[in-house]
Amino acid sequence: MARLWAGIVSLGCIPAATALASSSVFSSSLISQNVFNGDNFLKYDGVRGPYVDRVSYGVSRDTPAQCSVDQVIMIKRHGERYPASGEGTSIEQALKKVNNTIAGNYNGDLAFLQNWTYFVPSDCYEAETWAGPYAGLTDAYNHGQEYRERYGHLWDGESLLPLFTSDFQRVIETAQKFGEGFFGNDSYSTKAALNIISESSSQGADSLTPTCRKQDDNAQNICNSMPYYLPQFDAAADRLNAQYQGLNLNWTDVVSLMLMTAYELNTRSSSDWIDVFTTDEWVSFSHIWNINFYYCSGPGNSYMRAVGALYINATLTLLNEGPSSGSLFFNFAHDSNITPIITALGIATPSTPLPTDRVSFHSPWKTEDIVPMGGRLTIERLNCTSSALAPAGTFVRLVLNEAVVPLQECQNGPGYSCPLNNYTEFVRGLPSFVPECEVPAEEPQYLDFWWNYTTSTEENYRRGSRCNGLA
Ligand SMILES: *[C@@H]1O[C@H](CO)[C@@H](O)[C@H](O)[C@H]1NC(C)=O
Ligand SMILES: *[C@@H]1O[C@H](CO)[C@@H](O)[C@H](O)[C@H]1NC(C)=O
Ligand SMILES: *[C@@H]1O[C@H](CO)[C@@H](O)[C@H](O)[C@H]1NC(C)=O
Ligand SMILES: *[C@@H]1O[C@H](CO)[C@@H](O)[C@H](O)[C@H]1NC(C)=O
Ligand SMILES: *[C@@H]1O[C@H](CO)[C@@H](O)[C@H](O)[C@H]1NC(C)=O
Ligand SMILES: *[C@@H]1O[C@H](CO)[C@@H](O)[C@H](O)[C@H]1NC(C)=O
Ligand SMILES: *[C@@H]1O[C@H](CO)[C@@H](O)[C@H](O)[C@H]1NC(C)=O
Ligand SMILES: *[C@@H]1O[C@H](CO)[C@@H](O)[C@H](O)[C@H]1NC(C)=O
Repeated sequence: MARLWAGIVSLGCIPAATALASSSVFSSSLISQNVFNGDNFLKYDGVRGPYVDRVSYGVSRDTPAQCSVDQVIMIKRHGERYPASGEGTSIEQALKKVNNTIAGNYNGDLAFLQNWTYFVPSDCYEAETWAGPYAGLTDAYNHGQEYRERYGHLWDGESLLPLFTSDFQRVIETAQKFGEGFFGNDSYSTKAALNIISESSSQGADSLTPTCRKQDDNAQNICNSMPYYLPQFDAAADRLNAQYQGLNLNWTDVVSLMLMTAYELNTRSSSDWIDVFTTDEWVSFSHIWNINFYYCSGPGNSYMRAVGALYINATLTLLNEGPSSGSLFFNFAHDSNITPIITALGIATPSTPLPTDRVSFHSPWKTEDIVPMGGRLTIERLNCTSSALAPAGTFVRLVLNEAVVPLQECQNGPGYSCPLNNYTEFVRGLPSFVPECEVPAEEPQYLDFWWNYTTSTEENYRRGSRCNGLA
């Protein structure tokens, strides 16, 4: 009798359990009634600090059960870095005010300064970081390893695989470390072929860093007036000034010190500065970066859909050609090259323009969810068998910072993916980069390097000048 029950149970359950095993399910035990997303500093650091995953919509990151991935096209921002040179100037200016007034007076909110030192060697501005748990080079290496685990079935272990990076030192280093993680250190030297694509505007459309010859003057003016004033910065200045006689921080000094705080994590495991500012002040800090990206290289700038459409149109060609043109396309560039792509896809576009004088709490344009350091947009081509959702065929899925982001207009495939024919229609509706941005006729008129790449390994270890301490 017991045997019979056991038999019935397994006959009844095995097929169902097998189907579920490859789908994602919520945990049904000990369901937490608290949601802690608002507590993560990395969601408020203005994409100056370490990488953080995008908040998921609940759609499983795993490949849908009835599908397999047969092509992957990724574009990744360089990893965690030191501040940019211009940021360094304002940071050092604000720090000097602090140093000059509190010297020896180690109490109050800044008591930790007794044992604190600044973390940017003068020759390290702009460089990728290499120390600490959130270092850019470590992040890139780990990401390469993770993608080998996830997508390793798309590489036969033998064929030469090109990697594509824009020609900027920290971006190149990110591509190199990602490659070492993906291939393994030894295979990287012989199986990868690092293709370095010039960032010059004379590349025209054959670029990972396209520029638009036309300018949206209104957007550009707002873009240039960073940082934007929000009253929380004055509140922070007042609180600190009240504690230290003669300290005369103004709101832009506060923004500079907050900038510095976020960057500190790129080389150290923690920053005592985080608690100097309230969470409300960090909300405002985060928002000024939303505004900045929105107008400089996002939906607030009328040419950015066309700029982003260049990449989306070229990837569409790869998706329609399928694995016969290659299965893995790993690309490396900057944040401001990825935000136009997100703009063209329309997956984070707010319904009304962002104001500069208050926080847009209801806007989907949140930079930490779009281009954190090391952020990535991964396009998966799926080959799926027929199911109740859709007949068998080819589908496209967008994964942004490891969260699946369905298109609003097209989500009827497995795992909320979009059938390739519908996706094709969607992309055909985008503006054209070359005419919209007036690419001169003597410059390349389309993106070509994915079909015409070098198989030479000679750039795999190219090194620029590196800052102190980095071998
Ligand atoms: C600074 O370090 C010294 C020695 O480790 C320690 O005694 C002191 O408490 C520290 N000061 C602060 C403000 O953390
Ligand atoms: C301020 O003091 C800190 C700690 O002594 C030091 O590391 C930093 O270089 C100083 N910065 C400036 C701009 O003087
Ligand atoms: C491979 O390179 C990484 C990053 O440079 C390093 O951390 C690791 O120790 C190396 N592994 C081997 C097996 O050499
Ligand atoms: C804050 O002070 C610095 C000089 O310490 C100055 O460069 C900056 O313009 C001031 N900001 C404002 C808003 O006044
Ligand atoms: C999908 O996968 C099946 C099974 O591997 C294969 O026969 C078929 O050709 C693939 N379809 C496409 C469009 O690549
Ligand atoms: C997808 O394309 C098919 C055939 O072209 C069309 O009938 C259907 O309405 C489209 N679906 C969506 C969601 O666009
Ligand atoms: C889209 O890409 C294809 C092939 O890469 C190219 O021939 C075509 O001109 C591009 N279309 C637009 C509108 O950019
Ligand atoms: C292929 O790329 C090389 C250099 O990267 C360039 O000189 C050549 O014109 C390209 N060929 C085509 C057909 O675009």
